[in-house]
Amino acid sequence: MSTKADIEVTYDVSNEFFRLWLDSRMIYSCAVFEDTDDLEEAQTKKLAWFHEKARVEPGKRVLDIGCGWGGLMEFLALEKGVRDVSGITLSTAQYEAIREKAVPGISVDLISYLDYQPAKRFDAVISIGMFEHIATPEQVRGGENIRVYRDYFRRAWEWTNPGAWFGLQSVIGALLPRKREDIADLSWGTSTIFPGAITPRLEAIIASANPYWEVMEVRTRREHYAKTAAAWHRRLQQNEALIRERWGDQTYDDYDRYLSGCVRIFEKNFQSLAQLALRRVD
Ligand SMILES: C[S@@+](CC[C@H](N)C(=O)[O-])C[C@H]1O[C@@H](n2cnc3c(N)ncnc32)[C@H](O)[C@@H]1O
Repeated sequence: MSTKADIEVTYDVSNEFFRLWLDSRMIYSCAVFEDTDDLEEAQTKKLAWFHEKARVEPGKRVLDIGCGWGGLMEFLALEKGVRDVSGITLSTAQYEAIREKAVPGISVDLISYLDYQPAKRFDAVISIGMFEHIATPEQVRGGENIRVYRDYFRRAWEWTNPGAWFGLQSVIGALLPRKREDIADLSWGTSTIFPGAITPRLEAIIASANPYWEVMEVRTRREHYAKTAAAWHRRLQQNEALIRERWGDQTYDDYDRYLSGCVRIFEKNFQSLAQLALRRVD
């Protein structure tokens, strides 16, 4: 699992920094570019997909595992009338940003899913872009990934009521790169921007959901992540001067390399993006 220190490297650069190149809700995960080229609209479509697939309704209690800056929680509370949304994050900067906004119906805990013990059970769970943080590269290399992932699914099962649905999104490993520059693109981004994280294979997600969650639907959206990363990269470039001045050349150069590398990685199918609708096995 990514440690608290790893998470600080990834998400605690500065909220102002991420605000410059993410969309207005600060969603830091693949959007759904269906019938639109606009990042803002594409992120809203992604949130709507999860609202539908996790069968969220106003009276249901919803958990967002790895809630980022709270964009999904706000969408559910403010636009879909959900009255009880809880989120967990390991990032102090994200936690403080959500607390500051104090949106009615939303609560957030600064805690790892490994330590989380909710007082009440949930009717729906959504987790977007967090699965990549569950197993360490060492655990995957040691063949422990299924055990670690299954433990995560077991916990989510224990936090939910019978009949619950789970909407899950994760980057997944696809083709193995063979050329030196492709291998560099892939390994540099993970080790520098996302230390401690590793993308699962789709087969590993499906195998480990069993016996707790039944896989009802799987979508892959590789091209959508290439478009998302390209949109983020354009916005980063538009803010180059300001970013260099406030956060230094290293930060700008790292994110320039990471986001342009991301576009290539998804275009070449070294990584893909999976969205799953899971139903609790009762
Ligand atoms: C790529 S961000 C995605 C955020 C948000 N879901 C979104 O789509 O914008 C991953 C999130 O997972 C959280 N996270 C990572 N490891 C975690 C853990 N062990 N327990 C809880 N949250 C974790 C991070 O703090 C961050 O909020």
